[in-house]
Amino acid sequence: MENVKFSFPGKVAVVTGSAAGLGRAMAVQFAKAGANVAICDLKEELAKETEKLCQAEGVKAKFYKLNITDEEMVAKVKDEIVADFGTVDILVNNAGVTTAPGKMGPPMSMIDVPEWKRLVGVNLIGTVTVTKAFAPIFKEKKAGKIVNISSQAAYAPAAAMPHYNASKLAIVSYTQSCSVELGKSNVNVNAVCPGFIFTNMYVGAGQELIDRYPQIFGSCKTEEDVVKRLAANTSLGRPQKPEDIAYAVLFLCSDAASEITGNAVIVDSGGIRR
Ligand SMILES: NC(=O)c1ccc[n+]([C@@H]2O[C@H](COP(=O)([O-])OP(=O)(O)OC[C@H]3O[C@@H](n4cnc5c(N)ncnc54)[C@H](O)[C@@H]3O)[C@@H](O)[C@H]2O)c1
Repeated sequence: MENVKFSFPGKVAVVTGSAAGLGRAMAVQFAKAGANVAICDLKEELAKETEKLCQAEGVKAKFYKLNITDEEMVAKVKDEIVADFGTVDILVNNAGVTTAPGKMGPPMSMIDVPEWKRLVGVNLIGTVTVTKAFAPIFKEKKAGKIVNISSQAAYAPAAAMPHYNASKLAIVSYTQSCSVELGKSNVNVNAVCPGFIFTNMYVGAGQELIDRYPQIFGSCKTEEDVVKRLAANTSLGRPQKPEDIAYAVLFLCSDAASEITGNAVIVDSGGIRR
């Protein structure tokens, strides 16, 4: 899949959580497609690497330190982006967190209320906060694309992380609601639900799964084995790469998808076959 081609010349894409992982892949793919990219994340060092990778594609790319749970900071960064780039055409709400290390299941009993608030505060309320800040730009110009990153966990909840599952299903519902309101302003709002990819988010999780679920992962020695074991249950029998998720995001932001809105596209190699 090296020959996937999209074209967004001169468009401005804001990607939250793009310091690394799936968000970095999205930022770089937008840059390869000619879009200028605003890279928003908490992690400066990694985000600066993404910035360089995007700039190497010949587009304008700039890092903005952003905590999506801080409403004032979101408003300030939005103003800075508009001042620097002139406008915004695309918003990808990708920043998210998962279960804190060592907090994976069993469900409910090990996950206390502050942990629920932490996770839902980033994944759901953070997405809401950023969308509220940028939506007026799209409404005014009567154009725009928003993609919210959900998860296969929205539809196939993992036993180990009920708060993550709930936050990601809530993102699908929020996406549908936004699509109704913003559709009147010619704005498409969709979600993408990735399968399982070992990014920084899941450092150490492979071993945790092996230890907690020996009946499933007992034959696994490494994180790579865990990925293969999970992928073995998919229709295509293989894991996804960050770029596979990025391609779905770019498709939804392209003219080819102009009549797709309020949708949740699952990119999991046929894992949950919904
Ligand atoms: N990796 C997977 O298997 C997988 C599967 C389904 C969905 N997802 C979703 O994809 C998205 C990207 O995850 P990833 O796997 O690339 O993980 P990642 O940890 O590499 O990336 C997440 C990024 O979000 C940033 N972030 C976290 N909290 C933030 C905040 N408050 N403000 C700003 N930035 C913040 C982090 O600094 C990080 O760079 C997440 O929403 C995640 O839930 C990932």
